[in-house]
Amino acid sequence: MCGIIGYVGDKEIVPLLLKGLQCLEYRGYDSAGIAIHRGHNLNVIKTIGKISNLEEVIKNKTEYNGKNGHINCGIGHTRWATHGEPSDVNAHPHFDTEEKIAVVHNGIIRNYQEIKEKLTHHGLTFVTQTDTEVIVQLISRNLKKTKSAVEAISKSVNELEGSYAIAILFKGESDKIYAVRKEAPLVIGIGNGENFVASDIPTLSQFVDKVIRLNDNEITIVTKNNVEFYNLSGEKIKKEPQIITKTKDILDKKGFKHYLAKEINEQAEVISNLLKDFLPGAGKPVQFDCLKFDPSFLKNIDRVLILACGTAYHAGLTAKYILETLTSIPVEVQFSSEFITASPLLTKKSLVIGISQSGETADTLAAIKKAVSTGATLLGITNRADSALADLAKEHLILSKAGVEISVAATKTFTAQLTVLYLLAVYISEVQGLRRAEIQSIKQELRELPQLVDQALLRAEYYQEQIIKYANKRDFVFIGRGVNYPIALEAALKLKELSYIHASGYASGEMKHGPIAVLDPNVPVVSICVPGETYDRVIQNSLEAKSRKAPMIAVAVDGDKKADSIFDTVLHIPQISEIISPFLVVIPLQFLAYYIAEALGQDIDQPRNLAKSVTVE
Ligand code: F6R
Repeated sequence: MCGIIGYVGDKEIVPLLLKGLQCLEYRGYDSAGIAIHRGHNLNVIKTIGKISNLEEVIKNKTEYNGKNGHINCGIGHTRWATHGEPSDVNAHPHFDTEEKIAVVHNGIIRNYQEIKEKLTHHGLTFVTQTDTEVIVQLISRNLKKTKSAVEAISKSVNELEGSYAIAILFKGESDKIYAVRKEAPLVIGIGNGENFVASDIPTLSQFVDKVIRLNDNEITIVTKNNVEFYNLSGEKIKKEPQIITKTKDILDKKGFKHYLAKEINEQAEVISNLLKDFLPGAGKPVQFDCLKFDPSFLKNIDRVLILACGTAYHAGLTAKYILETLTSIPVEVQFSSEFITASPLLTKKSLVIGISQSGETADTLAAIKKAVSTGATLLGITNRADSALADLAKEHLILSKAGVEISVAATKTFTAQLTVLYLLAVYISEVQGLRRAEIQSIKQELRELPQLVDQALLRAEYYQEQIIKYANKRDFVFIGRGVNYPIALEAALKLKELSYIHASGYASGEMKHGPIAVLDPNVPVVSICVPGETYDRVIQNSLEAKSRKAPMIAVAVDGDKKADSIFDTVLHIPQISEIISPFLVVIPLQFLAYYIAEALGQDIDQPRNLAKSVTVE
């Protein structure tokens, strides 16, 4: 959460900082601001709201236009509020009292109250409610007692507890950006006569071909033609740039009204690309060259623990069904945030699977660190090769390769995670030599999947027509069983996030144990009824709901006459087997959330209160 950008070079700086911030806006959009050197002064301009607000504020201020050919140096920030409400005053960058230092920060300073009290005792006054202000005040105070900015930064961060990526400007050093990090991402972009800092590589790839990743407890000084690195003892360190793959213009909506619609529509392609990478032609086993397991480890795993949050947790819950069906291994799925305080029952024979689209989710990183401290082996699944999870899981890492997902609500990265997890279950099962016939038929169905997903995506308009009449309801219940129970949870999460309508997902058999009490003619029930082992029972539970006069919606396969006769509305999907069905079932449910939110006029790509990369615990 929170995005940081910095630039030093000859180009006009404000448009560059704004473009960088737009690329980073998925990290938070409560407020935005920039600090730049102008003459002998440091100027800060910031405002509550999105980058578009900041653009409006800056528009008529000609003094914020840089002059080409002069060194332009500045930093910018887009905020997801943690300490202090979204407001102009709490927006970054933050100044010290003398306005000689400007700081932007991503992360959380856990001991900020103690530091604030200490500094207040020394006569400093604070103007914001943020934890960040203590950083800039500390640096200012330490600068007076030390010989250099690097020493002041290092002394200051030694007093901080928590996580931080920080970029700093010092008045009088108008050609330098200083930065430091611990447990929050920060990358240096290496250009030609210009250099950048940013919270992620896709943003930098809009400007440069080479980057250097800052590690924990490293300080950097970035100038137009040079980048230096220091450890916290002030010793210089050498770091080599890496060439990055260019991410095509990440802000292109490709003709869709929203990034969400574009990303939902990319799902067939995403699945197809993953299958090309990992599922060779008929008769051949699934291949994960990125996994370095000894086959004897895979044959003797005593348990699998999946750690994830939100949508990734739902992918993990789906994987539990598949792994337990196709392999001989018991699987547990835990919310990362719960596992942090749980007692891990893991051994050296256990496999921990950490799933995170961003690879930066603080809860998941903390949970994984705790899990691997028991000696268990880690396998990471992430969409970001440049993330902390990718670093932690170097030995056994599967990239879900869904491409950049801009919309805050996850869609294509969910189906990408599902694809990887299904293939992983097949892979382990093949190594274990189990269920050969079943595996062959699942592999064949996976090969046919992109085409079926495409067919479902082509039904967007039909789904919209069916769904839109329910946009005035204030509560929704989603029910499913077995492999589609997690999809009911995911559908409820999507609807809540995008439309702000209250929604819950239940295992359909649980309805009669309490939740059925909430049903009345104003609470639609959405049942996932796919032919297979669970079908009759879901239908039975749906009839129980129908008799409480709830409006009844179903996701059912083409030609399901029984569903047509029971439900008020049926969202048909192409025929599919129950075990593979989550890939298709989720599509009308993503559209349901999208079209209802759109009908209500909600902010589709940037729902209120959310950020895509949740880097605080
Ligand atoms: C929901 C959503 C969130 C994330 C969750 C985990 O649409 O996007 O629930 O799934 O914050 O994020 P990652 O996968 O980045 O760890």
